[in-house]
Amino acid sequence: MGFLNCYVLFLTVLVVFNISLLCGADPTDGFTEVPLTAANFEIQRPYNVPLEERYSFENGVRRLWVFADDKPHNPSSHTQPRTEVRFHGLDYSSGVWQFEGYGFVPNGTTGPSIVQIHGAAHDPSTIILRIYDGDMRYYSGDLIATNMYDKWFRVNLIHDVDGGKVTVFLDGVQKFETNDRGLAQFYFKCGVYAALSDISYYMESRWRDIKIYKK
Ligand SMILES: *[C@@H]1O[C@H](CO)[C@@H](O)[C@H](O)[C@H]1NC(C)=O
Repeated sequence: MGFLNCYVLFLTVLVVFNISLLCGADPTDGFTEVPLTAANFEIQRPYNVPLEERYSFENGVRRLWVFADDKPHNPSSHTQPRTEVRFHGLDYSSGVWQFEGYGFVPNGTTGPSIVQIHGAAHDPSTIILRIYDGDMRYYSGDLIATNMYDKWFRVNLIHDVDGGKVTVFLDGVQKFETNDRGLAQFYFKCGVYAALSDISYYMESRWRDIKIYKK
């Protein structure tokens, strides 16, 4: 190796080392951003109401809301009410994928899934993040975080399909990791999807700066 190459290598190592010391690791390190267009954001909402009565997109913020007695997203479905972004054209069944977004849940919203990975071997979903009384839970079980109301928080959700793991980061800090629930065709969703019980009449979440990454 020539002197110049060696010197450049030395500088590169120094810079990378310093950056990781100063900033710490980020959940997106080593991932590549997948470019998104409007077509990737398919909105599911109660089938009998106009979009603008359950969804708005202003100043970069998507606001999605639903009522406990709303209809499902299509007339033949018997599922719970939802207003959700279904990431379209980004289905995956291998590799490592990541959802990133800044979410906001107003005080009073309880019981909806706000982020999910749809698809699993024997279940509809691999992971669901729900808000109950300001707590974030894995489905209605494990507590992931508290005091989530009325503030913006960054969510990074990593699905390592090959390793069979899902990992949740909030504001850059790892909060939860679990095994996934078997191979399927997967896709990300965010918004509000009512649980079967313990839900408020009105449910809302807001999202901005949504990104999808993969490795
Ligand atoms: C949410 O609203 C209730 C009722 O108004 C209030 O008692 C509670 O302190 C609020 N919680 C937060 C985190 O603001």
